[in-house]
Amino acid sequence: MRCVRLASETDLEGWREAARALLAEGSPPSNTCFLTGTAPGGLFEDEAPPAPVPAGFSLSVPRAFLDLAEQVALHRSVDRFDLLYRLLWRLQRERTLLHIVSDRDVADATERAKNVSRAAHKMKAFVRFRRIEDEGGEHWIAWFEPAHRVLERTAPFFQRRFTTMRWTILTPDGTAHWDLERLSFGPAATKDQAPEGDDVEEFWKTYYASTFNPARLKTKMMQSEMPRRYWANLPEAALIPGMIREAEARLGAMVATPASPANARLMKAVAPVVVRPEPVLAPDSLPALSEAVQGCRRCPLWRDATQAVCGKGPERADLMIVGEQPGDQEDLSGQPFVGPAGQVLDAALAEAGLDRERAWVTNAVKHFKHEPRGKRRLHKTPDAGEVEACRGWLDAERALVKPRLIVTLGATAALGVLGHKIAVTKDRGRPIRLEDGTPVLPTVHPSYLLRLPDEATRTAERIRFIDDLRAARWMLDTV
Ligand code: URA
Repeated sequence: MRCVRLASETDLEGWREAARALLAEGSPPSNTCFLTGTAPGGLFEDEAPPAPVPAGFSLSVPRAFLDLAEQVALHRSVDRFDLLYRLLWRLQRERTLLHIVSDRDVADATERAKNVSRAAHKMKAFVRFRRIEDEGGEHWIAWFEPAHRVLERTAPFFQRRFTTMRWTILTPDGTAHWDLERLSFGPAATKDQAPEGDDVEEFWKTYYASTFNPARLKTKMMQSEMPRRYWANLPEAALIPGMIREAEARLGAMVATPASPANARLMKAVAPVVVRPEPVLAPDSLPALSEAVQGCRRCPLWRDATQAVCGKGPERADLMIVGEQPGDQEDLSGQPFVGPAGQVLDAALAEAGLDRERAWVTNAVKHFKHEPRGKRRLHKTPDAGEVEACRGWLDAERALVKPRLIVTLGATAALGVLGHKIAVTKDRGRPIRLEDGTPVLPTVHPSYLLRLPDEATRTAERIRFIDDLRAARWMLDTV
């Protein structure tokens, strides 16, 4: 057996060099193995380094394989590098191998890549820093056990998110340290090196309790998204069983509960406003889009929002309904139109005979723009620059959902979809065609109805709103 020992568990560069040399030698996968770290080789394994690659030997590898290899190399399975070598070997003969999703090796590698990507996502979501004071002053330390070896891959995320904090993340695979200037990596750590609880835990608990939405309690889903393996390190996990028990009782009170103010020290510590005007990438699925939008820094609104709120609905929908931006409750729950404006919209859709569940419901701007007023967060209308910055996301949603009709609610939604202003009260109910022919039907925003001062005008305007939605239904039925 021809075996090569790599310098570390994630030594993709070393694997690439060795794999190239082994391919040049003609060493078949069935006779080749890769060892990492101190894992012992077998009795019949020859660990001699491969011969240098002969001049003129060339290897062509599709870009998709390199992307896949970057993920698979971080998987914890022992045979990950063997699998990659087998794929590389086969790719030299089967050029379109990666397109055959039913192929065992391709399916296996794709699944492992997904697991790694999920582990990275969970690490970003579940790392909790605790504060200590050391000779350098304030130091934030977190202990985390990622399902796969994603520390180095996710560390730049924490560097961007917590630029002005000195922090260290300890894991059984290694440590990442940010000293306010430089990101560095160190040896593996143990849990006892991490501090126990601190006062910032109270912040996480308050934050989690205020974002917990009993109306959407799905215990199974919650446990798959926040698996028990992470609970030990999550201060808020102690709240979960109690919150599940109380969910029903809290449902009624939820709407009345204002968001709690952020912990000032933590908020001061998180990254300053960063605006990166790079183009929006075009994710190839709605879940990918929803994940990508969380990292959006195209305008400063992300800074004060809890999260980006992407659209919701079936993957393909005939109807797309576009609002302005998430409100207070949407920002906390991560779902569009679940607050008071959402209730007005739901009732009007039902009266117009339109099924919300069959529509893709989204917003022109994905982060909640607001200003604090005491304990409340008051809605602020996004400006044209913010709408423009978000248009790429809206276009990407539209390209994936492929609606036959778009209904815009209010002026900001119309601006986001059409790219220019319209006078909503004048142009409402009259379809405008986009360049690709998709009709857009503008109408007012449901919160306009909520703001009307007297009952008679409210009733009249509500009827007009329902009429506009009926026109949308008619268009869907006849176009
Ligand atoms: N208003 C909007 O425009 N969108 C929402 O999601 C909620 C309120």
